[in-house]
Amino acid sequence: MSEINGNYGGRITGWGIALGSETITNDDLASRMDTSNEWILERTGIKERRIGGSTAGLAVQAGQDALEMAGCKAEDIDLLILATTTPDDQIPATSGMVQHELGLTCGAMDLNAACSGFVYSLVTGFGFLKLGYKRVLIIGSETLSRVTDWEDRSTAILFGDGAGAVVIEAEEGNGCLLGWNLGCEGSLRDILYAEVGGKIIMAGKEVFRKAVIAMTDSAKSSIAAAGLSSNDISYVIPHQANIRIIESAMKRLGIAENRAVSVLQKTGNTSSASIPIALFKALNDGRVKSGDILLLVGFGAGMTSASAIIQWSESNE
Ligand code: UT7
Repeated sequence: MSEINGNYGGRITGWGIALGSETITNDDLASRMDTSNEWILERTGIKERRIGGSTAGLAVQAGQDALEMAGCKAEDIDLLILATTTPDDQIPATSGMVQHELGLTCGAMDLNAACSGFVYSLVTGFGFLKLGYKRVLIIGSETLSRVTDWEDRSTAILFGDGAGAVVIEAEEGNGCLLGWNLGCEGSLRDILYAEVGGKIIMAGKEVFRKAVIAMTDSAKSSIAAAGLSSNDISYVIPHQANIRIIESAMKRLGIAENRAVSVLQKTGNTSSASIPIALFKALNDGRVKSGDILLLVGFGAGMTSASAIIQWSESNE
């Protein structure tokens, strides 16, 4: 049943992740190309990354755990949104395979906003709750190892494979989404792209510079939309591309660095999966308490940016 009801917000009731099966350390990469553990660690913060699996396969694993935690049966889900920039096929959308494997009976679609894809999908999902859906499954899943040029040391050191999923459920009232912002600067396509069937090409320094600005601007817009200030933010769940990008953005936002959640040391950059994987870590290690304000913020090829302010509540636990 999907009767439009603008009085419904939503809350996150389940979450799960999956990571590529094989661990590749910096030393493994150094044995194959002209790089070193020291350089990668110092310039990016990454120690190792996980690769392997398919985008659909990782999404199914993460999705299954999120459904189980939310106490949902497959038929309870009204919509699947799969954020991915590495679909398994050109046609059809990977979400169809995920829908089938999870036994869902609802509509399913892919959403490609590169590394901002999960937050784009989350905001879209909350919109559908306002349109009358009761439960939406949102997954970010990527197999970037398939589009990485393993001969190119400037990109091969960065990326990994993984997935993260959440179930959001409608509830009367405003729900947990207090503010959000979606952006895109399409003129910046050439600084980070992969042609159909091709590998990632990136102007690293330029992406770095733009990323810090895009993340900071988007975060500020969301914080303002929520009627809050930087001081109100309990934890930042940023896109996991480079620890130096996260540190620079935190400085610009005036939020203490120890408020940023990071997983990139063990995962590398998993694009649209990185924010839900970091969210999973923050929720599972018990640091997030009822009433805490979370800022989810990402940037990516496009060049896209996205952020969302989520207020955690007892009823999320
Ligand atoms: O989801 C969004 C995806 N992308 C990003 O967020 C990436 C944003 N950019 C970055 O994270 C950084 O720009 C990189 C990590 C990619 C590169 O770090 P950097 O500090 O900007 O290094 P650089 O490109 O300026 O290169 C500095 C030096 C160069 O040597 P010379 O010209 O100074 O002799 C590079 O050739 O480091 C060299 N270099 C490396 N050396 C060892 C580049 N990659 C490597 C490497 N190992 N893997």
